[in-house]
Amino acid sequence: MIIELAKRRRTVREFRRDNFPVEKIVKAIEVAREAPSGINKQPWFFLIVGDGERKKEIREVAERYEKISFQRLRGELKEWLEKNSITWEKKFLEDAPYLVMVFSDARAPYSKESTWIAVGYFLLALEEEGLSTVTYTPPSHREIAKVVNAPKHYRLEVIMPVGYSKKETEKKERKKLNDIMAFEHF
Ligand SMILES: Cc1cc2nc3c(=O)[nH]c(=O)nc-3n(C[C@H](O)[C@H](O)[C@H](O)COP(=O)(O)O)c2cc1C
Repeated sequence: MIIELAKRRRTVREFRRDNFPVEKIVKAIEVAREAPSGINKQPWFFLIVGDGERKKEIREVAERYEKISFQRLRGELKEWLEKNSITWEKKFLEDAPYLVMVFSDARAPYSKESTWIAVGYFLLALEEEGLSTVTYTPPSHREIAKVVNAPKHYRLEVIMPVGYSKKETEKKERKKLNDIMAFEHF
């Protein structure tokens, strides 16, 4: 049941290094492929990276820019990241057996919206496979895209390290239904 998958899914930032069949990811991409998109352009591209050296390079580029970005942090975002022990270090980029990099094709209308819907499908499909991830949105998407020779029109939207969770992770509280919906008018 989709409600069970949605309730069970949570973001994981610490992964075990044990491997798993990459077919599980391909299966989840098959689900993402069914997502709706602006004028059916299907403007997404899923790149699976499992090579240790390539993951290391991606981590190095990401962390270089994360350090700068963390120095500039202020206010609510800074507090939230500290409370959740999120730092410039992105160990998950090397620990997870695979990184799934999702690109949107900027030439298509509604490319971002469509790609993120596909990401939503992908997240639930991974959950069904018993795999975990984090939707990591790096501050350095252009630099990281270069590491994997992405064509110019492909924008890196998110990197999802995929693997088995190292520990039990708490489910973050959700807003009450009444606070996020209404009938007829606000
Ligand atoms: C668009 C988007 C961007 C996100 N970017 C990051 C990120 O860069 N780093 C990170 O650790 N988590 C990131 N997250 C994960 C959120 O922090 C997480 O989904 C949220 O706290 C709710 O927790 P849950 O996924 O466990 O329900 C992102 C999530 C979304 C939807």
